[in-house]
Amino acid sequence: MSGMELPAAAAGGVPPEIGAGRYAHLHGCWEDVHREYRSELAVLQEGLRTAAQGSAVSSAVTHLLGAGGKRVRPLLSWLCAQAVGGSAAEVAPIALASELLHGATLLHDDVLDDAAQRRGVPAARILFGNRLSILAGDLLMTRALEIVAGLARPALVVSFSRCLADLVEGEVLQDEHCFRADVGETVYRRIVELKTASLFGWTAEAATEVAGADHRTVAAFGRFGRGIGAAFQMLDDWLDWRGQPALVGKAVRADLKEGKPSLAVIYGVQTSARVRAWLRDHLRADAPAPTDEAVNDLGAELAQCGALERVREVVGAEVTRAVTALPRTAAPAAADRLALFAELLVGRDH
Ligand code: FPP
Ligand code: MG
Repeated sequence: MSGMELPAAAAGGVPPEIGAGRYAHLHGCWEDVHREYRSELAVLQEGLRTAAQGSAVSSAVTHLLGAGGKRVRPLLSWLCAQAVGGSAAEVAPIALASELLHGATLLHDDVLDDAAQRRGVPAARILFGNRLSILAGDLLMTRALEIVAGLARPALVVSFSRCLADLVEGEVLQDEHCFRADVGETVYRRIVELKTASLFGWTAEAATEVAGADHRTVAAFGRFGRGIGAAFQMLDDWLDWRGQPALVGKAVRADLKEGKPSLAVIYGVQTSARVRAWLRDHLRADAPAPTDEAVNDLGAELAQCGALERVREVVGAEVTRAVTALPRTAAPAAADRLALFAELLVGRDH
């Protein structure tokens, strides 16, 4: 399965929260988006393919970028450009730079998280080692920067560099709050804003700027991008509890073992004495790593006490807020498509 497609509903595993009918509808919409941007996706793929050509780290890069991916950030750039009356073609460098940087973060992130699998295949670090994976990420990051610099818009280089710094700060903030039961929603949201929403925001901002939108519109699209980026990460963390490894292409129920703050656990702590007791027992520096069975028990309690459902509601509200704040643009039909795209992002099961 290319990462771009939703798996066929017939393959099973449709989360009950989505429902088979809705799932089939979303699946069809993803296919439409895929078809509509077929030529842009092909150009993007070629750019990704050549990104590390001739480099000593090309094997690790080719492995990651060849494994698919949803191409969410490029799609966002094309849709945003069109929503302000521009074209997808003119923002091709933004699409490529954002996907390259995303790839860089994944290569680094899998080293930081000791991850074994990514996009349904072994993580690059498993096949090529941590050192090469880090260097491959470095290369992708510099390629992305080169592409942005090539646009000869100094402000975009500055905003892109700020985005890089945000990504790093997000990971550091997350690290500082690992294995802590007292992490609240404010800190969690800040981590999400920095480590994920920042790149979505930059992509939307940069695409609309290159497409010729005025300053206020660019800023508004930046807010939209950050809003759906935050929702995307919150859903990702929800999928860590509710997703299936075969669909998400990576280990599930891993965040807790890595000690990462997650919204479901934060809500669970607020509402369930059993969740609080679980964390007291398992989230101590001297406690052994929780077994799969213990993690599954916690997952069951998070479902039982309503924490997981609450996360989905918050994700939905986040998307609604982002879409409602979208400015009226020259191309309202394109804005409608952006709204549908936002809905697809949080209706996914992978
Ligand atoms: C995935 O989170 C990780 C990110 C969204 C950001 C990663 C950022 C860095 C490693 C630092 C900056 C790197 C560069 C190249 C500037 P996750 O681990 O929750 O998601 P996952 O389940 O997909 O691994
Ligand atoms: Mg990770």
